[in-house]
Amino acid sequence: MDAAAWDQYHRAHRGDRGWAEETVIELLTAAPAGRALDLGAGAGRHALWLANRGWSVTAMDFSAEARAELGRAAAEMPAAVAERLTVVDADLTAPPADWLPAAAADLTLLIDVDLPEADLAALLPALPGSLGPGGGLLVQVPVGGDGQAGLQAIRGALEPLLTLEYAGVLPAAEAGGRPSAFVFGRA
Ligand SMILES: C[S@@+](CC[C@H](N)C(=O)[O-])C[C@H]1O[C@@H](n2cnc3c(N)ncnc32)[C@H](O)[C@@H]1O
Repeated sequence: MDAAAWDQYHRAHRGDRGWAEETVIELLTAAPAGRALDLGAGAGRHALWLANRGWSVTAMDFSAEARAELGRAAAEMPAAVAERLTVVDADLTAPPADWLPAAAADLTLLIDVDLPEADLAALLPALPGSLGPGGGLLVQVPVGGDGQAGLQAIRGALEPLLTLEYAGVLPAAEAGGRPSAFVFGRA
């Protein structure tokens, strides 16, 4: 889907902010707050969850409607929470040079962003560079078939660059109707 189609989606789902994924809650509830990048942040269910827990979050999305929805949600939060959020227009398939600040994040998220295979393959190797020492990268994206081929592709791209702590497939029933690869690694 292009940005216009995502705009349409977010217009149709205005106010529908959803809950953070269980995987995020389980992995990060006990983690100390730091700096996070949320790529393809949508209406911001993870960005807001993190900001509420003290994280400073840069949320990136190419949909103006998504960014507006996130802005509205942030405005409903206490000022201290809203101040921890920065919302940026970025296309993950054609990012401008230096869009990912090097070694600037303690956590980078790519969740439920359904990029074309070639674009995901191009994006993944860039992500570990966004992490400071010990920083975590969580990729949870829909994959075709039974999910194994997609998982292996993601794993193959990240394994040389990170220490993987988890790599598996979330079944469709747990991942919004389609299997998702779920990979977490640390710099
Ligand atoms: C299903 S939503 C998921 C949002 C959020 N990550 C979450 O888990 O709730 C997918 C989001 O990815 C964004 N997106 C899709 N392709 C993108 C791209 N090429 N660049 C930036 N954002 C993109 C869409 O605009 C949409 O807001």
